[in-house]
Amino acid sequence: MSATTGSAKGGFLGWIDARFPLSRMWNEHVGEYYAPKNFNFWYYFGSLAVFVLVNQILTGIWLTMNYTPDAELAFSSVEYIMRDVQWGWLIRYLHSTGASMFFAVVYLHMFRALLYGSYKKPRELLWVFGMLIYLVLMAEAFMGYLLPWGQMSFWGAKVITSLFGAIPVIGPDLVQWIRGDFTISGVTLNRFFALHVVALPMVLLLLVVAHILALHEVGSNNPDGVDIKKNKDASGVPKDGIRFHPYYTTKDLVGLVVFLIVFLSIVFFAPTFGGLFLEKPNFQPADPLQTPEHIAPVWYFTAFYSILRSIPDKLTGVIAMGAAIFVLFFLPWIDRGPVRSIRYRGLSYRIALFTFAANFIFLSYLGVKPPSMMILGIEASSWAYYAMLLYFGYFAFLFIYTAFGLERTKPVPQRVTE
Ligand code: HEM
Repeated sequence: MSATTGSAKGGFLGWIDARFPLSRMWNEHVGEYYAPKNFNFWYYFGSLAVFVLVNQILTGIWLTMNYTPDAELAFSSVEYIMRDVQWGWLIRYLHSTGASMFFAVVYLHMFRALLYGSYKKPRELLWVFGMLIYLVLMAEAFMGYLLPWGQMSFWGAKVITSLFGAIPVIGPDLVQWIRGDFTISGVTLNRFFALHVVALPMVLLLLVVAHILALHEVGSNNPDGVDIKKNKDASGVPKDGIRFHPYYTTKDLVGLVVFLIVFLSIVFFAPTFGGLFLEKPNFQPADPLQTPEHIAPVWYFTAFYSILRSIPDKLTGVIAMGAAIFVLFFLPWIDRGPVRSIRYRGLSYRIALFTFAANFIFLSYLGVKPPSMMILGIEASSWAYYAMLLYFGYFAFLFIYTAFGLERTKPVPQRVTE
């Protein structure tokens, strides 16, 4: 079809379609994207993650209009947003609560992938894109946390950037290069601002597009782990598939409403969430001369922070923390079991996965507590050490269990179950 004659549709849409693949893209990714008909609760979190991403970008743009990235002015510019800018308090709380909700949604989204083996062939690259998103999201949240220039912003950034100093030979120079100064200063604040507001959101958006393209290339998995493309009708449509629009667009709206009730209840009634979403020391301006009594990152980092602290040697701790994140990239190759969904996997797998999830929550809990705290007569730091071993033990178990054919699976049905 030539660009001048228009498409068969005619009208304005036809004019556009002759020049840009609008209808084709809509059909491929929404209107005629066939998703398995048995999606459950766990499948809400992908679209919710997209929603929170949009919320962060929009509220972030409006915050930037009144925020000043200057060590002398940053803290008071946030106070100005909270007190004087019209609706500024709401924009800020939507953004700060949004950050925590982003991680909550992404953790549930990742756990769903573990439940149903969504990282397995042919979705390995989709998983790797997801892990890259997770890494960038961590960097994004870490840099955003410096911007209000509160006590925890300053000291958290100091502790985390100093970890790079443990790297042999180049460590000290690297720390200085990252900070742009001998300590965390206005220079650091400026570069973190540039990265948080421009560079990382762009990377994040690109990765999310790649993530969804990779998903639509291979098709969605489902709670049965059944490949719906194996059963198609005469017109080539999967018998167990339904169009994403209108079926899942409508269903996802229900999830969105429930999510908004939770999200907005926190925004309006408990924006600090008991010090978990906005930490108490961050209501005081950064003071380089006064270390807060207890430095802890925000809850979504504390599982890895616990792993870092569980080993007294700094370099080994840093390696363990890095390894705890990087091992997740390799999950599709560590888990060699043929069955995707937990519904048909061996009992030991089920026990191991739930132990892993509970242990992750336990590690997160330990990370917000002082290491000297006693739990059942044992110091929190010792608990963290055992929990760290259990964390890595899961991956070792998974490899041995699946690579040596020890798993006793149940037969997987041909078609999805209702
Ligand atoms: C900004 C963050 C993210 C966004 C916006 C996002 C978006 C989405 C969307 C819209 C879907 C399809 C709907 C669904 O299956 O729920 C999806 C699927 C998926 N995502 Fe993500 N995602 C994000 C982060 C991640 C992360 C961090 C991982 C894992 C490391 C991940 C792994 C997956 C997998 C494996 C699927 C396929 C699930 C299946 O078909 O069963 N995603 N994602």
